[in-house]
Amino acid sequence: MSPRLSVAADAAAVAVGADAVAARLAAAARARNLPLDLRRTSSRGLYWLEPLVEVATPSGRVAYGPVAPEDVDGLLTAGLLEGRPHPLCQGPTDDIPYLKRQTRLVFARAGLTDPRSLADYRAHGGYRGLERALSLGAEAVVQEVITSGLRGRGGAGFPTGIKWQTVARAPGPVKYAVCNADEGDSGTFSDRMVMEGDPFVLIEGMTIAAFATGAAKGYIYLRSEYPHAAAALNAAIAAARGEKLLGPDVLGAGFAFDLEVRIGAGAYVCGEETSMLDSLEGKRGQVRAKPPLPAHVGLFGKPTVINNVVSFASVPWILAEGGAAYRDFGMGRSRGTMPIQLAGNIRRGGLFETAFGVTLGELVQDIGGGTATGRPVRAVQVGGPLGAYFPPALFDTPFDYEAFAARDGLIGHGGVVVFDDTVDMARQARFAMEFCALESCGKCTPCRIGSVRGVEVIDRIIAGEQVAANLALVEDLCNTMKYGSLCALGGFTPYPVMSALTHFRADFEQRREPALAAG
Ligand SMILES: Cc1cc2nc3c(=O)[nH]c(=O)nc-3n(C[C@H](O)[C@H](O)[C@H](O)COP(=O)(O)O)c2cc1C
Ligand code: SF4
Repeated sequence: MSPRLSVAADAAAVAVGADAVAARLAAAARARNLPLDLRRTSSRGLYWLEPLVEVATPSGRVAYGPVAPEDVDGLLTAGLLEGRPHPLCQGPTDDIPYLKRQTRLVFARAGLTDPRSLADYRAHGGYRGLERALSLGAEAVVQEVITSGLRGRGGAGFPTGIKWQTVARAPGPVKYAVCNADEGDSGTFSDRMVMEGDPFVLIEGMTIAAFATGAAKGYIYLRSEYPHAAAALNAAIAAARGEKLLGPDVLGAGFAFDLEVRIGAGAYVCGEETSMLDSLEGKRGQVRAKPPLPAHVGLFGKPTVINNVVSFASVPWILAEGGAAYRDFGMGRSRGTMPIQLAGNIRRGGLFETAFGVTLGELVQDIGGGTATGRPVRAVQVGGPLGAYFPPALFDTPFDYEAFAARDGLIGHGGVVVFDDTVDMARQARFAMEFCALESCGKCTPCRIGSVRGVEVIDRIIAGEQVAANLALVEDLCNTMKYGSLCALGGFTPYPVMSALTHFRADFEQRREPALAAG
């Protein structure tokens, strides 16, 4: 049997040279007359080690990384194909502490399977969840998801099972299932990893949701910046149709469900679920007032179940293993696992799926290894552009929806963006307001006008003009936006701004640089 190597074909791995490494491996093996079974898989999510090359040995996989094309000859000479030592050798992949410390339920197949192979997916436990769902019946499936305690991973943390129950109980013969794959939060990539690396798990999760709620048609609303994900999803949908896992009679169980990928045009607010529905309907994405909830009046006016990619992708495991098994992980009302994404100025950036409860400090310092620059960590923004900035003094905060909320923060989609001590927090506060001004859908005044005024006032503070009075003005404005905005874009922009003001006040009061020009 030829030695088996795997190299990720994931967009992030490719961006740092995985294709060139794979090509060099194939060419070098040919030149040396070495037989080679080179496979392109999904990524493990250990991005600081990409391009990662793994070799299958009798005692398991051995990892080498980060590998550059010019390392290939030396690696082959050192005995890469037998898993021999080399300065780039990380040892057995499963023993890499970053991976070993994780609890991978959603990402159980990451780095192991070929994303395009339905056979591979099934060989690694795929479609067991749907099979059990069909045997349980729709109502019991909803109960199982309620039991699991799963909450939406898109940001708001709403209980998924309750949402499904609402759609299931909504009257009418036409319903939809929509997957929110807009993934607009800074520092996040878990949705992309699912769609590129394990697309069948999303298809299976959506099929279970459709069965439970009575939806016959589903859409995946995908951001245009994810072309690799679009290709992987479309290939997987075609393969699933071919095996009657999608179509007029799914698995011969007498229910119909089919899926379509729709590409967004690139607006952060189109990740907000009602804007997304407008966009899917071919309109300009603008937030709808609630009620009515999309569960009652959603896509094309019909009851619609909307979930994030990771929410849907968590469901096959829950159905296969049982809601109670999922609920066993986590803390408080945050049950199960969260695929946390470590990004920004961090030494070991990547995906870290773990049960809720791990502290922010453990994630940043211990698991992430501190900053990539080697300077002290000064601030961490959790939960995307609407999330608060936490200083190291709050590093004891456990990753838990309620614990973050109690400290005026949010965990959102699980993005953790690290900054070192060179960061200027007044500039970051300005950035938050400017982001809101640029991305506002324009429907309500506190957000549309407030964010523009916010940028202007922070500019005056940065310029050292009437700092105390302008700080009071920013606080007042933040309260207006927080309580008066129609959706969380305007309503949560005050969180990064106020957290910067609260925890890093010196950056506003004692400018470390001469007045900066606006812009
Ligand atoms: C401005 C804004 C942007 C959002 N962007 C996303 C996004 O990119 N992906 C996502 O899943 N949810 C996003 N959400 C949350 C969605 O409105 C919605 O809560 C979510 O899709 C529901 O799925 P879940 O319950 O599985 O999280 C956003 C919300 C707001 C206010
Ligand atoms: S808060 Fe902003 S994005 Fe949300 S509805 Fe109002 S104007 Fe639109």
